[in-house]
Amino acid sequence: MKTLNKHMLVACATFSIIHLVMSQNQQGFISLDCGLPSNEPPYNEQFTNLTYISDANFIQGEKTGYIQNNSETVSVSKPNRVLRYFPDGIRNCYSLSVTQDTKYLIRTVFVYGNYDGLNSPPRFDLYHGPNIWTSLDLKNSGLSETEEIIHITRSNSLDICFVKTRTSTPLISVIELRPLPYHTYTTRTGSLRTLAHLYFSYSDKIISYPKDVYDRIWQPYFQLEWTQITTTLNVTDSSNGYAPPRDAITTAAIPTNASEPLTIIWSLETSDDETYGYLYFGEIQQLRANETREFNIVANGRVVYDSYSPMNFEADTVFNHASFKCEGAVCRLQLFRTPKSSLPPQMNAMWRFLAPYIFHNQRQVKMMVYK
Ligand SMILES: *[C@@H]1O[C@H](CO)[C@@H](O)[C@H](O)[C@H]1NC(C)=O
Ligand SMILES: *[C@@H]1O[C@H](CO)[C@@H](O)[C@H](O)[C@H]1NC(C)=O
Ligand SMILES: *[C@@H]1O[C@H](CO)[C@@H](O)[C@H](O)[C@H]1NC(C)=O
Ligand SMILES: *[C@@H]1O[C@H](CO)[C@@H](O)[C@H](O)[C@H]1NC(C)=O
Ligand SMILES: *[C@@H]1O[C@H](CO)[C@@H](O)[C@H](O)[C@H]1NC(C)=O
Repeated sequence: MKTLNKHMLVACATFSIIHLVMSQNQQGFISLDCGLPSNEPPYNEQFTNLTYISDANFIQGEKTGYIQNNSETVSVSKPNRVLRYFPDGIRNCYSLSVTQDTKYLIRTVFVYGNYDGLNSPPRFDLYHGPNIWTSLDLKNSGLSETEEIIHITRSNSLDICFVKTRTSTPLISVIELRPLPYHTYTTRTGSLRTLAHLYFSYSDKIISYPKDVYDRIWQPYFQLEWTQITTTLNVTDSSNGYAPPRDAITTAAIPTNASEPLTIIWSLETSDDETYGYLYFGEIQQLRANETREFNIVANGRVVYDSYSPMNFEADTVFNHASFKCEGAVCRLQLFRTPKSSLPPQMNAMWRFLAPYIFHNQRQVKMMVYK
């Protein structure tokens, strides 16, 4: 009995070491290149080195399209050059195998690229399970459209569906699932839909995997009345799990006029929409003994965090535990320096979300009633 146990222990230990080594870079990542013919082998994408596989095993009998080759599409990456389109049926769904009770960042990318030669980007609805995720109109989206949610899986399968709303044909280029630590990006109910994920820098570089271990996408963003500060030193992650990538947390914005608040304004579709903000901070200047940086975080005129000080060369994340609405659908986040503070307010990065589907579902119900 003893020997058997010992053997089992050794076997288990060996297994987990091998497992860890094999998957340390992309543990649990699912990357589907939609439309890639099933006879084409998985491949590693050139910039991320992430492995993309064909979607053929997750969807039945649908069609492959290739975006047109022209000066506009020359920069489109390989996974986005081929697409799956759905001329038949009203509703077509992928059924993906996932790990139950896992928090996933789910990303869908749509590149029309005039694959059908009709110069007519489609409109259709995107669903996740029975819930509407969003209505897409690729005419308004430039070369590509990305839609993201953070969602906890309640079973070991996840449906992503494309629903015809008019005559146009739904399409999909890429589906990506990235597990996130369970306790990060929490909401009271439902899932979060990305509005914008920004880091404050003059740079024009988008950050993603491998710089971001979870393959979150960070867009550079800056405002005219801001000044950038930056450091070459390391900023440690205060082990709360958010792990912002080095390039995102080592730059920050301060108001150029140190007496002014740092202000960010964004709009929602309707004043019923609810929003969450995740704010990333880290003090990246070496403060003298007589210097302090302290500010109030104010959302829509209400103080949501009193006397906040970024931690010295440590990343920290601040967020609203309950969603908030914005009057007139205009949201205003402001950082006001406190009287005690010798330095202006500062923020490094921000992820804005639209709160759960409840409101979208209500809209959906209304639409059905009026039909
Ligand atoms: C890319 O990933 C593969 C495993 O999927 C690995 O063997 C290879 O060394 C990686 N290449 C680079 C440049 O990191
Ligand atoms: C675009 O160019 C690639 C590589 O030359 C080719 O394989 C593909 O068929 C072309 N696509 C179209 C729609 O012509
Ligand atoms: C930053 O961290 C990396 C990795 O831990 C280390 O190699 C490097 O020396 C550090 N740089 C500084 C300036 O502390
Ligand atoms: C800076 O902001 C303060 C407060 O709004 C204002 O009184 C002052 O004129 C501004 N300074 C400059 C140089 O714009
Ligand atoms: C802080 O101290 C330094 C000298 O150590 C001085 O030059 C600076 O003016 C002081 N700053 C403030 C805000 O008092």
